[in-house]
Amino acid sequence: MISQQMNDSLTQVSQGTDAGEVLRRYWQPAALLDELEQARPVVPVKLLGEDLVLFRNGEGDLGLIGRHCPHRGADLCYGRLEDNGLRCPFHGWHFDRSGQCVEQPGEPEDSRMHEHIKSVSYPVVEKNGIIWAYMGPGTPPAFPNFDCFRAPGTHVFAFKGHWQCNWLQAMEIGIDPAHASFLHRFLQDAEETEDGYGKQFRDSAADTGIPMTKLLRDYPRPEISVEETNYGLRLTALRHLDNGQTHVRVTNQIFPQSIGIPMSRNMTITQWHVPTDDENCYWYTMFTSFTDPVDRDLMRDQRLKEHSLPGYMPLKNASNNYGYDSAEQASETYTGMGLDINVHDQWAVESMGAIQDRTQEHLGKTDVGIIRYRRMLRAAIEAVKEGREEALPMHNALDLTTLFGPVSNDAIAKDGNWSKASADSDTARRSACPWDASV
Ligand code: FES
Ligand SMILES: [Fe+2]
Repeated sequence: MISQQMNDSLTQVSQGTDAGEVLRRYWQPAALLDELEQARPVVPVKLLGEDLVLFRNGEGDLGLIGRHCPHRGADLCYGRLEDNGLRCPFHGWHFDRSGQCVEQPGEPEDSRMHEHIKSVSYPVVEKNGIIWAYMGPGTPPAFPNFDCFRAPGTHVFAFKGHWQCNWLQAMEIGIDPAHASFLHRFLQDAEETEDGYGKQFRDSAADTGIPMTKLLRDYPRPEISVEETNYGLRLTALRHLDNGQTHVRVTNQIFPQSIGIPMSRNMTITQWHVPTDDENCYWYTMFTSFTDPVDRDLMRDQRLKEHSLPGYMPLKNASNNYGYDSAEQASETYTGMGLDINVHDQWAVESMGAIQDRTQEHLGKTDVGIIRYRRMLRAAIEAVKEGREEALPMHNALDLTTLFGPVSNDAIAKDGNWSKASADSDTARRSACPWDASV
C-alpha cells in the first residue's frame, strides 16, 4: 500500500500535477480519425483535465484549441468552421489553428485587441487511425518506430472505449499477467472459429493445440519477471506445463501509459490509457496485423455493437451490472459477464472506485510489474520536477527511430529454453510479415 499523498501524486493529471506533468512529456491520443470523418469535422476533446476542441479546416489541416472562447467562455464546439479555424457564434471572434484570435467583428474597426487574445493550442498529428496531441513544453518528441506506427495503414485498426475510472488503475491491469487466469477464465473452451477474428485468447497457445483459455485456466501461477528497457518494462510470464514444456508470454509496459501485448498469432495490441480527467479515461488500442490487412469494417462493427457513439461508452457498465448473470458465472465464465474480455477488465478497474484507494491495497508477488512501474513513474515525476527531462524514458539521447517492436508474443519452449523459444517465434512472425517488421 502507499500513502494518500503518493496515490494523489501518481494519479492526478491536471496541469501542474505530478503525474500530469509526466504524461504531458509524451504524445497523447486525442481522438480516433474515425471521429473526424463527418460532414463537419469538429469534436470536443477532454484530455488530461483540459477542455479542448479538435477540428479539421477546409485545407485538411488539424487544430486543437481551448474549448471555451476566450471572450466570455462560450463553447467553440458549436463554432462556425471557417477559413483557417473556428468562429465563435456568440460575438463572432475568429480563432485560427494556433489559437490566435484573428478577428473581432463587433469591436471598433481600428481595434488591435485581437492581437493579444490567444486560446491554448497544442500540436496534433495523425498516425494510423489516431490523432495525437502534445500538451507539454518545448518541441514534441519523435515517435518511436514501434510496429503499430511503422505498419502500413492497411495493417492497423484503431478503436477506443471509455472507462469510468482513473487512468492508472486502467493501465495497471495491463501489467498484471496473473489476472488472465482468473478474470478472463472460460469454464469451457470454444472451438476456434471465424467468430474469434479480432478477439483475444481465441487461438490455441503457440503451437500446442491447447486452447489459450485452457492453458490460462490450468496454470494459474505464472512465474513473472520484469526487466527495465529503454521504452519501459518487459514482462515475462512463464507457465510450466505438466508435459515439461514451458509457455512463455512476453508483454510490455511502454512508458508512460501504454501496454504492448499479443492478441492472437497474427495480431498485437498496443493500448494507451488516456486520462480525460482524474476519474475517467479512454483506452485507445492499435491492433497491428503481421499477416493480412486488417478487416477494419468487421473489427469496427464488432466493437460498435458494444459501444454507443459519440462517446464510445460501453453498453455494459455499472448501471446494468455489466450484464452479470449468476447462472453464467456458475457454469461458463469466471465473472458471469459474458465472453468479451474487455468487459471483464472494465468491471475490474471500475469496481475499484473512481480512483483506487491504494492506501488499502495489499500487493503480492504477482504484482511485481505494478510495483516496478510505480517506481519508474515516481522517478519520472522527480526528474520532471528537477528539470532533468533527459532522465525520462525515450527522452534521452536514444534515437527513437531505432526503437522497434516491442516484442510481444506467446511461445512454447519444448526444452525449457524459453527465451530462445520466444525470440524464435518473434523472428518467424517478423520474417513472414508482408511489411518490413524487422527489428
Ligand atoms: S463568447 Fe465567444 S465571441 Fe463572445
Ligand atoms: Fe485483462
